[in-house]
Amino acid sequence: PADTLALTPPMGWNSWNQFEWEVSDSLIREIADAMVSTGMRDAGYRYIIIDDYWVGGRDTKNRLFPDPVRFPHGMKALADYVHGKGLKLGIYSDAAELTCAGVTGSLGFEELDAQTFADWGIDYLKYDYCHAPKDRTTAFTRYKKMGDALKATGKPIVYAICEWGGRSPWLWAKAAGGHLWRTTYDSRDSWHSGDHDLVGIMDIFDTQDGLERYAGPGAWNDPDLLMVGLYGKGKSSSPDKRFAGCTDEEYKTHFALWCMLAAPLIVNNDLRDMSDFTRKLLTNKHLIAVDQDSLGRQGYTFLRSDDLQYLRKELKDGVAICVFNRSETPKDFTFDPVKDADILYPADATNAWTGRVSKKGIVRGTLPAHGCEVYIYRRK
Ligand code: GLA
Repeated sequence: PADTLALTPPMGWNSWNQFEWEVSDSLIREIADAMVSTGMRDAGYRYIIIDDYWVGGRDTKNRLFPDPVRFPHGMKALADYVHGKGLKLGIYSDAAELTCAGVTGSLGFEELDAQTFADWGIDYLKYDYCHAPKDRTTAFTRYKKMGDALKATGKPIVYAICEWGGRSPWLWAKAAGGHLWRTTYDSRDSWHSGDHDLVGIMDIFDTQDGLERYAGPGAWNDPDLLMVGLYGKGKSSSPDKRFAGCTDEEYKTHFALWCMLAAPLIVNNDLRDMSDFTRKLLTNKHLIAVDQDSLGRQGYTFLRSDDLQYLRKELKDGVAICVFNRSETPKDFTFDPVKDADILYPADATNAWTGRVSKKGIVRGTLPAHGCEVYIYRRK
């Protein structure tokens, strides 16, 4: 990689699906506090990312300023607060005159905006593509412009490219300076939405096959935010019934699959009000270790039988296997690491969810509908 940023997939929180236009200084401070008090920070979540709607406009020197009502103390003070908690602050802009929400974007002001973000102490930029021309060449040019501008500031800033995958960003986003790039349209809080533009978890998951060859330290496919714990309460969910939320079982599978995909783990639920289940899931140390493994490989499907789908992710010192029941009824499974996946060296199986160790490595069980298990095989 060109720098040492995002050597493992970024972990953090983003304001979008839960809060949309309700971003504010006080919300971000409270989320930062909750990130610490819930144990999320210590589990590895570091970036707090303010999504769309924060911009107020440009001042007489063309410098961006935040909405003065919602961010009365300015961005520098907010960044100082977030940094004081041992966390990092992310922000959002767009490669056009306007962002998706219609506030001021960065086109034509890339260097100035990058410098402004650096001066504020911003550590992460999500750069969107609404209101921009559809072709790949323009996308690359505009993204590289901002990528170069960020680099020129000399401040380490993670660069998240958000053009929704339509222009195959996995082929060029790294060359534009990106550390991660969205591979899909916007995820919604739904198992399967059937809507091409507002995709659910399964709609996204089923389009990630084959992208594993483009991921690695410093460069990640981003299948969008984690919907875990939204339960249909996000601003971008209601009142549309297609986005009425998922069950705990489905959120568990969502999180496990994203870890298998070495996806950025950016949650967007309200950390001030998390169920015990949500907190336990989001801080599961085995699953996080799979996601954050330093080898930086993305997992992929290697076996399908009946309604069961098996994924495999190479780890620095072993392999993670996920068995996933896609169907609407419970399914029994048996997995033999030697016979089914050529894991020929001696390795115990650690169940990522329960922590239970199976000495011989052969595992079996019953998966509920939409359920999965992840087993970690580490070389002895
Ligand atoms: C786009 C992005 C979303 C979010 C919104 C904000 O739709 O893909 O993730 O940032 O814009 O308006």
